[in-house]
Amino acid sequence: MLDRIEEIHDEGLAAVQAAGSTEELEELRVRLLGRKAELPNLLRGVGELPPEQRGQVGKRANEVRKALESRMAEARERLDTAELDSRLIADRVDITLPGDPLQPVGRLHLITQTLRELEDVFLGLGFTVMEGPEVETVQYNFDALNHEPTHPARGRTDTFYTSDDTVLRTHTSPMQVRAMQAHPPPLYVVIPGRVYRRDNDATHTPQFHQVEGLAVDEDITLADLKGTLLEFSRAIFGDERDVRLRGHFFPFTEPSVEVDVSCFNCNDGWMPDGSRCPLCKGEGWIEILGAGEVDPNVYSYVDDERYDPEKVQGFAWGMGIERIAFLKHGVADLRLFYENDLRFLEQFG
Ligand code: PHE
Repeated sequence: MLDRIEEIHDEGLAAVQAAGSTEELEELRVRLLGRKAELPNLLRGVGELPPEQRGQVGKRANEVRKALESRMAEARERLDTAELDSRLIADRVDITLPGDPLQPVGRLHLITQTLRELEDVFLGLGFTVMEGPEVETVQYNFDALNHEPTHPARGRTDTFYTSDDTVLRTHTSPMQVRAMQAHPPPLYVVIPGRVYRRDNDATHTPQFHQVEGLAVDEDITLADLKGTLLEFSRAIFGDERDVRLRGHFFPFTEPSVEVDVSCFNCNDGWMPDGSRCPLCKGEGWIEILGAGEVDPNVYSYVDDERYDPEKVQGFAWGMGIERIAFLKHGVADLRLFYENDLRFLEQFG
């Protein structure tokens, strides 16, 4: 009898030790200690044994039951931990991985990119950025800027009127007077924004963007304008660029100029193979904007004695953002900017 108990002990412990899962362990518990198992049966039968065996068999059988129970408890703990670990490893989520399915990341529209690039350049030169209304009064859009009643831009064939005295602004220049009314001199400001004209062809869209610039301070001359625009041209088109001013006319600047930048596609109008440069048409120069010294008459609309043309002078310019992007990236047709064709837009940025 005692030999059999020792066998149950040794086999039982070995089996518990070898159990590879909690299910296996449960089966073992039933087999070794369950109601029909040999050891409990044996314990229950101790009373029927001859009296001299009872003590020894009962004691040993009890010890073996306890040994098996405690070994099972240990095994249970070991297997629970191992199973939890493996479940944690299997279920692990790496939250640093990109989402699934991978979403394409968008990019800024080329016009926005160009706009921000221009703003950065002028912020670096000490200008601040302002914005203004796109629906503008005829007064700010034309009258304050010296447009004669007969000026062609005032016509309904050129300009979108929203009422008799309001228009979709045709340029960002009305912000010159608004900026001066909002801030005393010295004033160094750029004003980006949308403008509208009744035009639609490969080089004109009915809506486009401009960046107005305005600097008003003491002793400002055209040389300051030229220096500012030279810095700008080099930042945008490359360090080798030069600028030239050509006399022109705008009703609200005097003198007025058009500003050209030296062509960045050729050498003085000619390509290495001896053909004429297609970008500057052989000129060697590309027009980039209109500018001039603020006309003294414009200050009178500001109606602020600090803007006295005897004390302050200023320069202003207006450049087309589409035109800058178009030149810089060699875009064939301005309308491409607004057709939302991703094959075009995805080339930039
Ligand atoms: N507003 C003018 C235009 O749209 C450009 C300009 C701005 C000219 C400022 C001179 C000074 O053509």
